[in-house]
Amino acid sequence: MKEEKVASIDELMPSEEDINLSLDELTGSDGFNLIGLLQDVQDRFGFLPPAALEGISKRTGISLSRIYGVVSFYSQFYTEPHGRHTIRCCRGTACHVKGAGRIIDAMEAELGISDGQTTPDKMFFLESVACLGTCFLAPAIMIDDQYFGKVTPRGIAEILENYRANEL
Ligand code: FES
Repeated sequence: MKEEKVASIDELMPSEEDINLSLDELTGSDGFNLIGLLQDVQDRFGFLPPAALEGISKRTGISLSRIYGVVSFYSQFYTEPHGRHTIRCCRGTACHVKGAGRIIDAMEAELGISDGQTTPDKMFFLESVACLGTCFLAPAIMIDDQYFGKVTPRGIAEILENYRANEL
């Protein structure tokens, strides 16, 4: 595994100015719905910074406890820093039988991080999940909203390289 420093939460936190500018844009005059707004904020920062949730509460009049209630209800929302791309490696039964353990090991080795961590360049967040709902693709992974099926440990590097190349 590569020896790289994992970014700390403070290093991954957007500035207050960035958050305020984004909220100015996202809570503009056209109206909004809370879930859509939370998705937009998360798309922008990769997660939902606490200061952004407080800002949403102030600007919309929706109580902070209600906002946190919505955030915690939906598994798609993250309240801690994430990389720009979220990689979900399935460790469910069907994928486990087809070698998911080796896929997760290869992913961790390629990224130099462990389950639940973000790469130092903030490009990828890695998590293992119980089932992606695509067992026929086992072993399966998902990057953002894109599924990859019947993946192999050797194919991991190529998949990641395509994402890295598209960032340049
Ligand atoms: S067990 Fe992996 S997608 Fe269902």
